[in-house]
Amino acid sequence: MFDDFDAYGWETPSHEIAEKVGLKTEQIVRLDTNTSPFAPTAELRVLAKAAPALQVNQYPDTTYLDLRKGLSAYCGLGVDRFVVTNGADEGLDIICKTLLDNGDEVVVPVPTYAMFRVASEVMGARMKYVKRDAEDFSVGADDVIGAVGPKTRLIFLCNPNSPTGNPMPLSEVERIVKEAKVPVAVDEAYYEFWGKTAIGLTERYENLVVCRTFSKAFSMAGVRVGYLVAQGRTVDKLNIVRPPNSLSVISLMLAEAALRNLGEMRGNVGKIVTERARVFKALRKIEPVRPFPSETNFILFKVRGGAERAARFHKALMKRGFVLRSYSKPSGVGDCLRLTIGTSKVNELFLSALREASA
Ligand SMILES: Cc1ncc(COP(=O)(O)O)c(C=O)c1O
Repeated sequence: MFDDFDAYGWETPSHEIAEKVGLKTEQIVRLDTNTSPFAPTAELRVLAKAAPALQVNQYPDTTYLDLRKGLSAYCGLGVDRFVVTNGADEGLDIICKTLLDNGDEVVVPVPTYAMFRVASEVMGARMKYVKRDAEDFSVGADDVIGAVGPKTRLIFLCNPNSPTGNPMPLSEVERIVKEAKVPVAVDEAYYEFWGKTAIGLTERYENLVVCRTFSKAFSMAGVRVGYLVAQGRTVDKLNIVRPPNSLSVISLMLAEAALRNLGEMRGNVGKIVTERARVFKALRKIEPVRPFPSETNFILFKVRGGAERAARFHKALMKRGFVLRSYSKPSGVGDCLRLTIGTSKVNELFLSALREASA
């Protein structure tokens, strides 16, 4: 089964990069993972205070009720509308395990998040790709609906999309959910940076599941918490597949604390959005780079001159300690690099390094 299976690929670990380019591991700046440059300081303090009495000798409440109560208040939906997961990736996995079987087809606009393919193909499903516009990466509801065939059992949408950063208007998302008549999973990992969401549509459509995470806006990629939102009957099905204890009591405590302290997350999102606009403007002035507008915490930019030149830039930036996400030629963004927005200081240092590399 795994003979022609293409696993998810990452950039190399920092210690290996450091060794290769002759820097110390601490000098390597990761701008390839779309994580937050800010630590969840207040939540870590809550954990430190509670740590001596934390019942790590026991399993957590397997229904994760306290976290679901927090999510209910955050999202404005009932507690029975949530499935808590070990990061969004486990959420995607649960969706695929629940819905897919050998020979099924999954429709997905590309380029997009590679785990959609991995989680689907592991279940024996085949991908049917809908190509996004080459200029602005948009994709219309008609193109997605038109790709649905008799074997289609799932449509994945990433909104806003990674790695391109652009959103699909919610009216288009709703048309797909309404007209395609198959389950639709909308990955909203970057929701907080855009501010628009399809979760309200789950009130009306039983075939919609929305997937979210604490890894990006909430600064908790290392904590590993995500959640799915759907109608009660869909939640019941997803819960059959969900492992009972994939979250730790520590992760649950941190995520619950984050939902009691939304001001911190919103403040950090505000800083990233401001920096995103500033970095975008600066990138536009650097030849041979062309940034694409983004509603996320990252910016994709094209390197004029093709994939080979993009690879040279990737290497030149790495030598200066900055790791960006690069892509293979068949991905459709082989001539692009993806940059995570950091603190203003890191962004400034990065822009200087980019100017130097392009001189
Ligand atoms: C679109 C998208 N979905 C899901 C994930 C994974 O999120 P998590 O860390 O919650 O597993 C990522 C991480 O980069 C992502 O970009």
